[in-house]
Amino acid sequence: MPKITIVPDYQKLSVITAEKIVSYIQQKPDAVICLAGGDTPLGTYQQLKTIVKERSIDISQVTFVGLDEWVGMNETVKGSCRYTLNKHLYKPLNIAEENILFFNGKADPIHHECKRITYEMNKLGGINLILLGIGMNGHLGFNEPNVSMDEYAHVVTLDAITRKVSSKYFATPYPVSKGITLGMKTILSADKIISIANGTKKSTIIEKIINGAASPDVPASLLKNHQHVEFIIDEKAAKYIPNSTENFI
Ligand code: PGA
Repeated sequence: MPKITIVPDYQKLSVITAEKIVSYIQQKPDAVICLAGGDTPLGTYQQLKTIVKERSIDISQVTFVGLDEWVGMNETVKGSCRYTLNKHLYKPLNIAEENILFFNGKADPIHHECKRITYEMNKLGGINLILLGIGMNGHLGFNEPNVSMDEYAHVVTLDAITRKVSSKYFATPYPVSKGITLGMKTILSADKIISIANGTKKSTIIEKIINGAASPDVPASLLKNHQHVEFIIDEKAAKYIPNSTENFI
């Protein structure tokens, strides 16, 4: 059974998610941690920066893994996944480059990048903790609806919803068509998974994920089969989830 935690608002979601990441690092200072891009985790990263600095948490042995990237982009493109992580986390926390493993969406040929990341992931021994947002279509990273369960790092043709939503990340229109992402095989092999969602716009997909069957049509629903998964959702995104008081904090 997945743990489902429903919190009053985005601020609380961000605080408790950051606290969970910090306590994981304190238990396992050399953890391999994969942190998603997107808007949902930005509050968590804000909190994480504050906690790490205020409490002098040692993150020097942590390896930070990127979840995904738009094909054709690297950190120089404002709005790319790497740009976002650089800006909101890696640079403010002075994370050393050798402690970051991230897709280069500009690699040519791109399938070599899948091989590189899969090779490096194997060397690291997989992911200990992964923080995931949830797409409007239920995707995880760029694992789109009707996802294969057997993929490691791979290139994906983006779903129409993902392409439409992508415009929010870029100041000028960027014609995205493909993404490169860790696959479900890698994601579901993580020791611990935290998946977060906030806002009314996520309420319909959250209802499908939590109340529906686990199905490749809705990739995030597959997380429910994992032994150590926690969904942390604010009340707006959880508006169609039955009021089970033990889920509320
Ligand atoms: P968001 O994206 O956090 O910007 O809503 C989530 C996702 O697409 O996985």
